[in-house]
Amino acid sequence: MNVSIEKAIEILTDGHPVAFPTETVYGLGADAWNPDAIRQVFDLKGRPSDNPLIVHIASRNLVDDFAADIPDHATKLMKACWPGPLTLIFKKKPNVLDLITAALDTVALRWPSHALAQELIFRAGPLVAPSANKSGRPSPTKASHVTEDFGDDLPVIDGGATQIGLESTVLDISELPLRIYRPGYIDKKDIERITGLDVILTQEAGKEQATRSPGTKYSHYAPEATVRWLEEGESPDKKNALYLVHSLQAEEQPHLLHYHQDYKKMATELYDRFRQADHNRLEEVVVEPFDAQTREQHPITEALVNRISKAIG
Ligand code: TXA
Ligand code: MG
Repeated sequence: MNVSIEKAIEILTDGHPVAFPTETVYGLGADAWNPDAIRQVFDLKGRPSDNPLIVHIASRNLVDDFAADIPDHATKLMKACWPGPLTLIFKKKPNVLDLITAALDTVALRWPSHALAQELIFRAGPLVAPSANKSGRPSPTKASHVTEDFGDDLPVIDGGATQIGLESTVLDISELPLRIYRPGYIDKKDIERITGLDVILTQEAGKEQATRSPGTKYSHYAPEATVRWLEEGESPDKKNALYLVHSLQAEEQPHLLHYHQDYKKMATELYDRFRQADHNRLEEVVVEPFDAQTREQHPITEALVNRISKAIG
């Protein structure tokens, strides 16, 4: 159900969740100081309680309400990247609800850049906001995706299609070395340039990863259709598949979308394409792999590979 920002503030203040747009994906927001409201978010999503939530804020000052320690490199990152698609993990203050952090000693904070999100958070107060999808489903990049997962009873502020289309970069700044738990629009090189420090990417981070960022161990982002990589030499011509390609020589057709090396556009559209494949009852989504040179030159492909690999399972 579409609601105005005024109505959304009323619902949040009454202790209930509202979905809203951010520059990355739609979030399912609830008052970060209200345990009952946060419980509703977990219940609605069917989210395991050991998967912590991001607190969304709309001013630098509010960091101090949640973070126990703000190292210099975090200050640099906040200056350079906030508001924007970067989530930072801090050592938490003791009064931050365990429900939010899954009883970890850290808390994830993000200041989104989307104007509607900023106004909502500024007026309703800090909001926890996981992506507004049922657990395991692709994140919503349109208000209609939210309604598809939760039905028309769930209030949602419609801000149109989101600009980035993949979730924020999640970076642990609470310890050195800095670690990216979830790659996103703001990439490893950006973070290294801004902080002057080395950054480890999830894939390199090793086994303790799953316990340090619980979200990374769950299967994610998947449509009903089977997602897989296009095999070498395979021609993209099956009838019941959707092909997403970027470099291959192939003609655009209804079941073959050619991104012509526009990887940012591919990121923006990926989850919508996953959902479209299901609407069209297709059996497979087949994605052209990215070679090493492309991954080096276009860091957003790191985030694409991460989400596609998780959808493959
Ligand atoms: O772009 C985004 O980040 C979106 C929009 C709505 O802001 N939100 C989002 O939230 O993607 P969610 O809950 O779907 O993903 C949050 C990720 C999860 O993988 C979670 O495990 C991780 O952040 N996370 C949250 N708090 C953490 C913490 N204290 N330590 C490690 N990982 C944490
Ligand atoms: Mg999510």
